Amino acid sequence: MEKGLQVAIDGPASSGKSTVAKIIAKRFGYVYCDTGAMYRSVTWAALENGINVNDTKQVIDLARRIKITFEPGQPDQRVFVDGHEVTKEIRTEKIAANVSAVAAIPEVRAQMVEQQRQIAQTGGIVMDGRDIGTTVLPNAQVKVFLVASAHERARRRYEENLQKGLATQSLDELEAAIKLRDQKDSTRKVSPLTQAKDAILIDTTSLTIDQVVDEISALIKKNQDN
Ligand code: DC
Repeated sequence: MEKGLQVAIDGPASSGKSTVAKIIAKRFGYVYCDTGAMYRSVTWAALENGINVNDTKQVIDLARRIKITFEPGQPDQRVFVDGHEVTKEIRTEKIAANVSAVAAIPEVRAQMVEQQRQIAQTGGIVMDGRDIGTTVLPNAQVKVFLVASAHERARRRYEENLQKGLATQSLDELEAAIKLRDQKDSTRKVSPLTQAKDAILIDTTSLTIDQVVDEISALIKKNQDN
């Protein structure tokens, strides 16, 4: 019988993680968990409540109080904070500019990691983020680390924003913002963005989505047979 595996997909901002993770989850009938959406939701709740994201104590209290939930949706999974839908609101550049500060707070991370482990506990899960293979699910059977050049990632985000009618930033501005977020995510003290020793590195700069999906699917199939 095929086993429901834990699949961890990590990598920097806009490396294509969520796009491929969603397709893979659908293909294998697995649950998809977007952990970035959880940090974005805490950030959204902070800004909504007039809390400065650098006010660590208040952000920690808030992260403990709010309930983040997911529901299947088309084309994107729906995200709720205390029952209020935030699916679209957490994707703005304002949230992107503030989320690194929230994600750098150890107590907030501990709170999120606990919830993520609960979600993944039964297997049959594709989880994407920055620390899934290293911290959240160190025993995941399939670990992938996706990278792409900053220029290519900015280009993809720009196209995506155009399609969603969110194109408020130029390509150059997006590339600068992506580089800044990479730097913050990779140099923070707690769970910085790092490739797990046993993760497979895939550079998606010149690959199509289908090629990346096929490569990861092959890894899953190989592990299901073991
Ligand atoms: O993947 P994303 O762009 O939605 O992530 C939003 C932010 O959350 C990003 O700046 C890094 C942070 N993050 C994290 O620290 N750990 C995770 N597991 C997922 C995201």
